[in-house]
Amino acid sequence: MIQLIRGFKDILPGEIETWQVVEKTAASLFEDFGFKEIRIPIMERTEVFARSIGEDTDIVEKEMYTFPDRKGELITLRPEATASIVRSYIQHKMYASDPVQKFYTIGPMFRRERPQKGRYRQFYQINVEIFGVASPLADVELIFLLATLCSRLGIEDVKAHINSLGCPACRPDYRQALAKYLAEVDDKLCADCRRRRTRNPLRVLDCKVPSCREAMADAPSILDYLCDDCRVDFDTVKDFLDKLKVAYVIDKRLVRGLDYYARTTFEMQTGVLGAQSAVAGGGRYDGLVKLLGGPDQPATGFAIGLDRLAEIVGSQQAAPVKKPPVYVAALGEKGQHEAFQWICRFGMEGINVEMDFGSRSLKAQMKRADRLGAAYVLIVGENELSQGSAILRNMATKEQVEIPIDNIVNRVKEIISNRG
Ligand code: HAM
Repeated sequence: MIQLIRGFKDILPGEIETWQVVEKTAASLFEDFGFKEIRIPIMERTEVFARSIGEDTDIVEKEMYTFPDRKGELITLRPEATASIVRSYIQHKMYASDPVQKFYTIGPMFRRERPQKGRYRQFYQINVEIFGVASPLADVELIFLLATLCSRLGIEDVKAHINSLGCPACRPDYRQALAKYLAEVDDKLCADCRRRRTRNPLRVLDCKVPSCREAMADAPSILDYLCDDCRVDFDTVKDFLDKLKVAYVIDKRLVRGLDYYARTTFEMQTGVLGAQSAVAGGGRYDGLVKLLGGPDQPATGFAIGLDRLAEIVGSQQAAPVKKPPVYVAALGEKGQHEAFQWICRFGMEGINVEMDFGSRSLKAQMKRADRLGAAYVLIVGENELSQGSAILRNMATKEQVEIPIDNIVNRVKEIISNRG
């Protein structure tokens, strides 16, 4: 038997309904806040991601699905959407009409991580990005949207973690202080962190290895190194989150796994998903549009891990199951041919009607109707056809009525809609 690839998964009916609820709730919330949907390709030239996310990140170093296409050009299955959206914003000169552009997109991402609960190699994200707004209020709006979405989905055990990563003016000082500290605790760090220590010291703050966590307990905090502009910016974020009554914690270890961030970064974290606590993550990435060859426009955004969010929602409430209101039990070839035309017309009327395409007995067909949860069964055989009528059985009351075949779709529609 051929099995799917490790870390990939099928999302089957029964589970997909929860995903649909999450996607629809998110899309409608984002549309209400003026975000427009954008769809970008699943593959890009490798450099789009390598330059944006950073060569020294786990994603670029070891997690991307990168391969040469038939002409030898290196292409990558997208590990995230932000870099592609920036590429698109620049390529289509979207900033020319109005630098302020607000997008959302939903789709699969690919990272070759070690699979575990809540962590997959193909996973889905809901991305939201704002271009052209330097004000920290855009960051506040994003965190507010995340909190509102969680509350609309009935998720309680979730909290915003926020931090500031400073800017090119103040971060170098912090990096230096951190590097000095890391040199002192070098022997307590894991092999990965020792390597990261010189190339990308901030990443060490994020390491989950217990000995590294312990070694980093007294590490200097970036918040003590912010320049005046970054400090005012971060204070504004906190102030407006307070005003909007969004609960948050300041998390000085929150450095995120991608290099493009500056100033405010945030994650929505939960305790219900085991090791994978981040349901969403994002932050400001003011330098990225310029880095990829566009104008110097600020930007900020986030991505929700849809698999994780759907898992939480699904564990809290059962997915709504769609049941056909009517099942047609057709007997004999003539009955089936007639019934088939009815189900097509019912479908056109927006009513899902199922039937059996085999030649099973009435009893077997009634059983199947029951299993599918049909409220009514429409019975039609050669006898009924010759009399120009069919029988409609109410499965709850067991009541049966004769319905003339002439205009039957509308007649049945009326009966089932009167039922409420
Ligand atoms: P990220 O933190 O790498 O950020 O991913 C965002 C979310 O995607 C995570 O919080 C998590 O819920 C989910 N996620 C990431 N990797 C996996 C995985 N292997 N399996 C399941 N879920 C996963 C970004 O991707 C940025 N592009 C976010 C952003 C948008 N920043 C600014 N704009």
